[in-house]
Amino acid sequence: MKPSTIPSHKSGGRKQDSGLILLKMGGSVITFKEQPLSPNFECINDLSRIIASVDKPLIVVHGGGSFGHYWSVKYGMHTKPARYDLKGVSVVHESMIALNELLVKRLIESGAKPYSVMPSVFTQGLEPITERIEELESIAVGGVVPVTFGDIVHVAEQNYSILSGDALMTILAEVLLPPKVIFLVNVDGLYSDVGTKNIIQEINYETYKSATFSKTTSDVTGGMYRKIEEGLKIASLGIDVVLVNGLKPERVLNAINGDDFEGTLIRHEDRRG
Ligand code: IPE
Repeated sequence: MKPSTIPSHKSGGRKQDSGLILLKMGGSVITFKEQPLSPNFECINDLSRIIASVDKPLIVVHGGGSFGHYWSVKYGMHTKPARYDLKGVSVVHESMIALNELLVKRLIESGAKPYSVMPSVFTQGLEPITERIEELESIAVGGVVPVTFGDIVHVAEQNYSILSGDALMTILAEVLLPPKVIFLVNVDGLYSDVGTKNIIQEINYETYKSATFSKTTSDVTGGMYRKIEEGLKIASLGIDVVLVNGLKPERVLNAINGDDFEGTLIRHEDRRG
């Protein structure tokens, strides 16, 4: 596949550009999604080494994969606020903390400086707490990498909701307007045709409706379709979003460090008027 180029631009109305990168590690990258509670240590090690080598402010969000999704499915929990089984609330949350701890340990062993942040620290229900999110950026600028994750959160009056890592990416991007947003997925990008595995190199709001997406049934937060929806929301802020295969370390490194990457670019909408 020919590498695409991430065009350089500034979002409209941005304050100072810290060069922040928002990186989502999909659950299907850092875990084996079909096998309950099984981390993909090889991939976690590769990604940890890459993050340790990056000399840019970075905020990492990770998904649930065979941890959070496994229990969410078992307890019938979704992204709609409701009075879910309270044991399910505890179990889903615990599984995400376990996955986060495991990831953070590997990051430290690799020489990175991660710092775990539960999403409830910077969200109130499903809404952002702006000051807390801005604080995450200053932490990142100082060389520490905030690592947060999709989770089950209390919305109001004993109603809980799954808050996906993809939705967290939008929440963070809306406040911080980073110049680069990367989603690591377990495929080479968005397929125009799942059969032939043709990758769409670039997509925008107009072209996305004609594309077909692979949907997975075991995923309570909507799989690739949801990712593109979140990606388009972020692109509408004037930010380029890239989908890159997280199981191919050199592609991840290129997407973080350089302008060339292999994957799908969700092109930003021009907000400069
Ligand atoms: C899911 O987060 C979190 C829970 C199920 C608790 P994501 O929806 O971002 O996870 P992945 O990346 O699709 O696995």
